[in-house]
Amino acid sequence: MGKSNFTLNFALGLQTAGKKVVVLDLDLSTANINILMGGTSRYSLADIFRKQKNIWEVLEKGAAGIEYIAGGLEIEDLLEFDKHSLTFFWSQIQELQSYADFILLDTGAGISKELVDFILASDETILVTTPEPTAIADSYAVLKTIFQTAKNSNPKFRLVVNRAQTYGEAVETSRALKSASNKFLKIELNTLGFMMEDLYVRKSVKLQTPFFNAFPNCEASKNIKQIVNSFIPENSLNSSTAPKGIRGFIEKLMIRGKISQGEK
Ligand SMILES: Nc1ncnc2c1ncn2[C@@H]1O[C@H](COP(=O)(O)OP(=O)(O)OP(=O)(O)O)[C@@H](O)[C@H]1O
Ligand SMILES: [Mg+2]
Repeated sequence: MGKSNFTLNFALGLQTAGKKVVVLDLDLSTANINILMGGTSRYSLADIFRKQKNIWEVLEKGAAGIEYIAGGLEIEDLLEFDKHSLTFFWSQIQELQSYADFILLDTGAGISKELVDFILASDETILVTTPEPTAIADSYAVLKTIFQTAKNSNPKFRLVVNRAQTYGEAVETSRALKSASNKFLKIELNTLGFMMEDLYVRKSVKLQTPFFNAFPNCEASKNIKQIVNSFIPENSLNSSTAPKGIRGFIEKLMIRGKISQGEK
């Protein structure tokens, strides 16, 4: 559907706009962030647990200049670690607080209980869908699961429609999802932007170079720039609406308790 490509190129767009970005790869499926950048990573998130590496040792700089931590750990894996390892893990992740303006988590397809916790703890989730009815139905199912679990919290979601053939199709897709969410889930789903179907996306994947760098003038790159432009002003607002950051994220995860207290 384009989640990993979106995450990486959006990260590059934010970086170009002067923001410090770190990408955490929570996706173990085929198209990993490091593959998309043409790199191989020495370490991964899992090494924070398994080899007691600190965050600066596992943070890699990709060819595109994006700093990231490779996958190697599924969210569900967090349940297998004892409290001591988890505390160390979160303390390391917290180091990113003063280092990065934005921490982007790339997730795999589908939705697990653990992913719901991550989503509810995040400042914002960007839902990437395509115009196919099956993708729209999957996206709706994700929203339904989250909002039924959320109860008292009010998670922030915004939509990116990817792989639309025309802008009309993108608008129609976002309208369909927005209206279903409004009618059945009673939520207001805003759209962050669109990414058109663009041959250069596939080309860049084959080249293992993000399209934002390899083909800065292709339509998808222009779309990313527009998305960055609408994303940044909102995230530079006053403190009452400013993101709570990784510390707040970790605290919320701790409060939800399911991951952090997965003692065995
Ligand atoms: N805008 C686009 N235009 C053309 N092709 C695209 C576009 N977005 C994604 N693709 C194609 O879809 C493929 C999968 O994209 P990507 O790996 O980003 O999806 P994903 O959602 O991360 O998948 P997974 O769920 O497996 O992690 C890309 O390799 C590319 O060929
Ligand atoms: Mg992916």
